[in-house]
Amino acid sequence: MSQIIDSKIREDFPILEKKVNGSRLVYLDNAATTQKPKCVVDAISDYYYNHNGNPHRGAHTLSIEATSLYDNAKKKVQNFINADSEDEIVFTKNCTESLNLLAYSLSQSFKEDDEILLCISEHHSNILPWQRISKEKNLILKYIYVNEDGTIPESEYEKINKNTKLISIAQMSNVLGTIFPVKKISQIAHEKGAIVVIDAAQSIPHMKVDVKDIDADFLVFSAHKMLGPMGIGVLYGKKHLLDNMPPFLLGGDMIEYVYENDVTFAQVPYKFEAGTQNVEGAVGLKAAIDYLEKIGLQNIEAHEKMLTEYAVEEMLKIPYIEIYGPMDLEKRGGIISFNVKDIHPHDVSTILDSYGVASRAGHHCCQPLMRYMGINSSVRISFYLYNNIEDIDIFIDSIKNVRKWLGYGS
Ligand code: ALA
Repeated sequence: MSQIIDSKIREDFPILEKKVNGSRLVYLDNAATTQKPKCVVDAISDYYYNHNGNPHRGAHTLSIEATSLYDNAKKKVQNFINADSEDEIVFTKNCTESLNLLAYSLSQSFKEDDEILLCISEHHSNILPWQRISKEKNLILKYIYVNEDGTIPESEYEKINKNTKLISIAQMSNVLGTIFPVKKISQIAHEKGAIVVIDAAQSIPHMKVDVKDIDADFLVFSAHKMLGPMGIGVLYGKKHLLDNMPPFLLGGDMIEYVYENDVTFAQVPYKFEAGTQNVEGAVGLKAAIDYLEKIGLQNIEAHEKMLTEYAVEEMLKIPYIEIYGPMDLEKRGGIISFNVKDIHPHDVSTILDSYGVASRAGHHCCQPLMRYMGINSSVRISFYLYNNIEDIDIFIDSIKNVRKWLGYGS
């Protein structure tokens, strides 16, 4: 089978040389975090060796260099998602912080009985912040429920109505792998006057995302799931919306004037970036986007689609595996959650690890979805650009041994 991305790129990722339990590392936990190419690590080292200073604060050369690296990273993110201006890009700690910021800040103008709409498949990070403000402000929290195949039935869109203040939904489910039709959701929501928040944590590393095309009011993601470092995330917001929102964290660098009993805040995006910022993260994120753009998001998407099709085809041949999410592979990305009959997912994952295969087991921070699906947990494999057919073959050979390991005939 021919591959869209040449396996030679694996040489850019030194960790893939690592042996795990004596075997070749087969890293299939990319939905949790991705491995880093050497250019990302080198960019971060270069920052610390040659340019480290506190940005936006000093008149000296190193501070100016750090400021310029930080601002260049913002410009890169702006172009990457097709935002109108770098002022629409706020750097946060991660996707979770971006969502907490939005829930706190947006809710200051929400009124009792305003409705917040989520999808049942959301990650806890896109549930808990909305749950808290709903309780505090007496808002009504509602959910869209998915079909058995992990897609949204048409009738569920009727839940978006004139009382809906905000809908927040992941573009790709971190459990089901479903790619949700966010452009359509955005259009329906805007017709009803609702704000649209897109959690792009699992989508943006794997496909081209254009905030103008999908008309997202806000979009959030984390660098570490797209070859970048941990500890930096992005909040995109339309400027007129960000302008009218109060800041989340208060402190240094986000102010205009401070008096003994009063304050005026800096312009966006700075009013949302309190304290010394994560310049190494910004530098690493920029290097990661440069790398992704060099390979090409369309190639990455096509490569993962090919791997997903091959893996699903091989998994369906194994009678004791149940796969969750859409079987129409056009509707899903490179995340496959499944269970092995009679075997606890943690045992499956531990046995896979003994063959060098890194998978994930548990509720994947999606307990409401698990409860809705009537399961406690699942095993999950998830692909990225450096995975190849050999990885899938090793995974399939290993999974065939799991039940035997635990004393079952086959
Ligand atoms: N949110 C990450 C996942 O789904 C950690 O695995």
